[in-house]
Formats: sequence, structure tokens, C-alpha cells
Amino acid sequence: MLLMKDIIDDHDKRIRDISLPVEMPLSKEDEQLLLDMHEFLVNSQDEDISKKYHLRPAVGIAAVQLGIMKRMCAIHVLDFDNEGNIKKVNDYALVNPKIISYTEKKAYLKDGEGCLSVNEERDGFVPRYAKVTVKGYDVLTHSDVTIVARGFLSICLQHELDHFDGKLFYDHINKEFPKAPIPNAMIIE
Ligand code: NI
Repeated sequence: MLLMKDIIDDHDKRIRDISLPVEMPLSKEDEQLLLDMHEFLVNSQDEDISKKYHLRPAVGIAAVQLGIMKRMCAIHVLDFDNEGNIKKVNDYALVNPKIISYTEKKAYLKDGEGCLSVNEERDGFVPRYAKVTVKGYDVLTHSDVTIVARGFLSICLQHELDHFDGKLFYDHINKEFPKAPIPNAMIIE
């Protein structure tokens, strides 16, 4: 299983490199890697397992964070209803995902973003598109998928896809005024 020691941080120059498209059909190794990445996310959100292995809770991970320069990422995002019950589980293990459309409307997380590869505190609003449509191949369902994502899921996908191009969330934060209001943006709690 993947552990924190397998993840590179932003002091490692590779985190800024551009990841390459993955050749299809997918090799067994790439498929296994993606499944392991997805499993890491599930483990990281499990109270007992994350405690035992000192995993930082995460909703997304890109292959570059393991030092593997391939356009692959996994997502494990839970949607809750007003009572705090799980409403929907968004699970993806994506190969060559791409944003094919987005809204002009922006969105950002009220508490800012975090990243497994960023260990220092980086406070500030990260402007994202409020809604994106992402196309890619999903290893969990062995099929091409079109994901129409809004709100938190949309932000997670944009964060992971940024990793493919060597971008980190804090690159988007206003340097002078990290918490300056972002026009035309939805605030996500
Ligand atoms: Ni990240």
C-alpha cells in the first residue's frame, strides 16, 4: 500500500514538471498504480487506517506526487446531506482526464485548499471554475467517462489536473491579498 513516504513534496523539483499522456490500452502496471492511488485516498479517510499509518486525509492524488510523470489521478470525494449522512461517493481513477468545458462563474473554498505535497501552511483563496466537465478513462469502471462536476468536486478535479502541468494550488493565490474577494465566485464551505 502507498504511504506518506511515497509522496514527494514541493521541495522536490519534479512536482513542477509536466506529466505525459498515458498510452492506451493501459498497461497492468499503470492500472495497478491508479488502483493503489485510489486505495490510498480511501485509507486516508478511514479513521483507524489513517491513524495507524499516519496518513494525511486527502480527496485527490496525482501520479506526479509519487514522482511518476503520467497524466493519471484518483479522486475520493464524499457528498453529505444536511444531517451529515453520506449522500454520494464520487470515486474515480482517471487516465488522461481533460477539462472539455467550464463555466465563467468561479468558486473557491472558504478555508483554502490543501495538498499532500504541500507541508507548509498556504493560506488564501484559490479561484477555480464553479463547474467543469471532464473527460477521461476511468479504471474503476473500465470505461470512458464524462464527469459534470460542480462545487467541491469541481475544485478537486481542477486541483489534480493542475498537478499534470506542474501547478500547485498556491500559484493561484493573490500574492498581495491572499483573501481578497474573488468577483463572480461562489464560496464553498
Ligand atoms: Ni495536490
